[in-house]
Amino acid sequence: MEHKLLIYTLISIFFTTILFGVLVKDNSSTLDELKLSSKNIIEKNQNLFNKNKDGSTIDKKFNGEKFASDSYSLYKKMTSGKSLKGNDLKNSNDYKQLSEALTTYLAAARIIVAKNQKLINTDKDGKANPKNFYPAVFGRYASYEFKKRSGIVMKQTTLGKGGYGARNSKYNSPDSWETKALNKFESSSWKRGEGFGEEVSESGSKYYRYMKPLEIKQACLGCHGDPKGEKDISGHIKEGYKLNDIRGGISVKIPMK
Ligand code: HEC
Repeated sequence: MEHKLLIYTLISIFFTTILFGVLVKDNSSTLDELKLSSKNIIEKNQNLFNKNKDGSTIDKKFNGEKFASDSYSLYKKMTSGKSLKGNDLKNSNDYKQLSEALTTYLAAARIIVAKNQKLINTDKDGKANPKNFYPAVFGRYASYEFKKRSGIVMKQTTLGKGGYGARNSKYNSPDSWETKALNKFESSSWKRGEGFGEEVSESGSKYYRYMKPLEIKQACLGCHGDPKGEKDISGHIKEGYKLNDIRGGISVKIPMK
């Protein structure tokens, strides 16, 4: 009899632990999933980065570890004073806080990819060898990977220069909610750099939607900057943005329980 009791107790402890693990997914573990997804994409593309045109390879040392530590240090800088670090996010289910953390992390990781464009796109003999691994392409792959792990959708989008639209309209065109958020960022009364978020109902489900503005940094100018009309490293036409212009935003859509 006592034996049975012990077994029942052990079984219930086992299931409670599993249930707990599934239900109590706090914001810090969700941020960890985005960090892992991003690192994964860099690791999957090592061969692409390291391969020269003649088929030989070199170690450019832009690997998952380096990328992850650079991205997290930049993220910490970008969120300093904002309570968005691992420990602040523990045991929290605050959707706005989570959205800010996720969009800021992806923005930081994209900047690291932008800063490494020259390294990625140059062969060992110093000649250009474009790999088409743009910050936005990285961001898209990382977002797909993250959605598989978390069910959360992330996207980089834009209204485009003078309403010209997204450079890659197939993936990056804004939906109506995103257009509304992007228009807010463009208005002169909007506090610079501030994100926008709210609860929405879409096709009978509730979501928390949030967008963080993406500004043009030094590392973006090579492809999105001045002078307008000039071609970038991959033969695309530059768009004429200036430092600190709003280039678009990172959007996040979290299913609410
Ligand atoms: C090496 C060139 C390059 C650099 C550097 C670069 N971009 Fe881009 N960017 C592109 C290309 C090409 C696309 C379209 C890629 C795609 O989604 O397939 C793009 C897309 C985007 C998009 C998505 C909307 C759209 O127009 O399709 C945003 C937002 C964006 N870039 C912002 C930035 C910011 C901010 C930086 C600096 C941190 C940056 N980019 C750095 C080339 C670049």
